[in-house]
Amino acid sequence: MTILGIETSCDETSAAVIRDGKICSNVISSQYVHRKYGGVVPELASRAHQRLITQVVEEALQNGSCGIRDLDAVAATYGPGLVGALLVGLNFGKALAYGLGIPFVGVNHMEGHLYSVLLGEPAPEFPFVSLIVSGGHTLLVHVRGPFLHDVLGQTRDDAAGEAFDKVAKMLGLGYPGGPRIDALAAQGNPRAIRFPRSYLEQDTLDFSFSGIKTAVLYYVRDHGLPGDPSVLADVCASFQQSVVDVLVRKTLRAAMMTGVRDVAIAGGVSANAGLRHELGKACTAAGKRLFMPHIEFCMDNGAMIGYVGWLKRNRGIRSPLDLTAVAGLELA
Ligand code: KG4
Ligand code: ZN
Repeated sequence: MTILGIETSCDETSAAVIRDGKICSNVISSQYVHRKYGGVVPELASRAHQRLITQVVEEALQNGSCGIRDLDAVAATYGPGLVGALLVGLNFGKALAYGLGIPFVGVNHMEGHLYSVLLGEPAPEFPFVSLIVSGGHTLLVHVRGPFLHDVLGQTRDDAAGEAFDKVAKMLGLGYPGGPRIDALAAQGNPRAIRFPRSYLEQDTLDFSFSGIKTAVLYYVRDHGLPGDPSVLADVCASFQQSVVDVLVRKTLRAAMMTGVRDVAIAGGVSANAGLRHELGKACTAAGKRLFMPHIEFCMDNGAMIGYVGWLKRNRGIRSPLDLTAVAGLELA
């Protein structure tokens, strides 16, 4: 069974071909138009998707040695995300499926991140705990099987990636800030500045990152923007460490509480070198196995959407063609 997966929920235009649950191609076109605005501008994202979608899909088909008539179904993200951005991929996918007379499958972007880890080799075994950390979401999920998952905790304010992006903006590092902070943090001292860690109530698996963000804001207000590159690196390393400490402690707690052996991470922030390193160490110490998707599958990508589309088609699921974009779609 060959599926085309399409992802346009934010600022990545992506398409992939999945055949029998394996990736044949995955094309990601990141939009650089947002950089000068320090964040994603929804209107510009929609227009860029509109311009890019046909060529991205064509390239995915070509790289996957897949003719358009070889497709058995088309899957596209229908939420959560920016409505104008979602509509581009969703409508393209629906129209293509309609034209070819094949099933269309709407996919929840968060399910894409959640199950993308199964694309790796080796893959975690059910049940496992997954930490999804992106620019829009931070949540811990207990995954008992395909489409059998429970949310254990989530952020009450900013997503971890949002905190990275906002702190990077404060420090004049541009957008997206996560990768810039990650790179600078590698050269800094994570113990130089003691930023707060918000663990919230003792037994909760919820997160809060607005306090850390505000602490950096106050630091910059009181000390000025770091002019010295080594001080800048220390600020980045110390900020990153406080976010990573919270993510690692809560993820381990979730793994202990549920008694799982396997732990997975997904979403853009799971590309963070500090997080990968610290979580790896903590999992090993606790006798857990950690599974991390390749960076290409951590960020928003069509492969994860095609893969969930494939899982759904295996269960005979198809979506009606009047399916519309849902900005606030939750992980059900
Ligand atoms: O999953 P994703 O591509 O899009 C969303 O669904 O949000 O995640 C993008 C987020 C951005 O906030 C970006 O700054 C962050 O992931 N990010 C990182 C790193 N790479 C991307 N954050 C920290 N360290 C990184 N290396
Ligand atoms: Zn995402």
